[in-house]
Amino acid sequence: MSLKTNKELLDRAKAEGYAVGAFNVNNIEQTIAALEAAEEEKSPIIIAVTEGAIKYAGEPFFFDAVPKMLEAAGVPASLHLDHGKKMEMIMKCVGKGFTSVMYDGSSLSFEANVAETRKVAEAAKARRVSVEGEIGRVGGVESGVSSAPGGDEELLTDPEEAKRFVELTGIDSVAVAVGTVHGMRKQTAKIDLDRISAIAALVTVPLVLHGASGAPDETCVEVVKRGIHKINIGTELQKSFARGVADFIASNPDVIDPRKILRPGMNSMKESVRNKIRLFGSAGRAW
Ligand code: 13P
Repeated sequence: MSLKTNKELLDRAKAEGYAVGAFNVNNIEQTIAALEAAEEEKSPIIIAVTEGAIKYAGEPFFFDAVPKMLEAAGVPASLHLDHGKKMEMIMKCVGKGFTSVMYDGSSLSFEANVAETRKVAEAAKARRVSVEGEIGRVGGVESGVSSAPGGDEELLTDPEEAKRFVELTGIDSVAVAVGTVHGMRKQTAKIDLDRISAIAALVTVPLVLHGASGAPDETCVEVVKRGIHKINIGTELQKSFARGVADFIASNPDVIDPRKILRPGMNSMKESVRNKIRLFGSAGRAW
């Protein structure tokens, strides 16, 4: 059986000193590409799915097909709801084969974030599903919210607050704001490494880095040493998938078979996933 919870994957990654990649997928091609890379690299993997992705591909795909695909995978794999905001969808995922859910209350006050995240943690953990919360605010390029150092520093995670947040909510991992923002198309994020170390010194559960498409390769290696054990990648995969498809169509304008058109996108995305797996140190860690 290959389907694991995030807690199983991340506690092991923390003990052994590497990070597990959480790769955002929207459809069957991206799911296959991510799994192929993980299997070839013998790496544990987290398949991350947003509420928007579920709306796009449909509930039967993510609730029936994907859990079966992960169950059959040759590596330990978790199915994770990324940035869950609607309680109804979070609880649906909990009951329908997801092995991990994130509740994103980062835009709420500290007290409201604690109260809502704790509710999710109690309900999900009763069903043996892992829970991730977020404290501080990673934000996104599209939404115009920046938490980059030198930008709006008050959005970055405060180490003491992170400690209290984890203790009060009972979550299994925590997303921290340390300088990345979602949706960056270039690796130009300036990450506050000392902040990661300060949080890791106080917080016992694995730390999660969101918006890591913007993190330079060498920084990805360093964040793992500082205490990050789950790294989220989305935008970089969309970029590589789109590039693969666009290049193929440009040089083969008469091909109409979607299998032939989409495979180059899958291959290009697969190489991106493979590179990240190697950078995060999870290659060869499957058990
Ligand atoms: P990017 O799309 O910026 O890589 O962020 C992914 C992410 O953090 C998903 O939660």
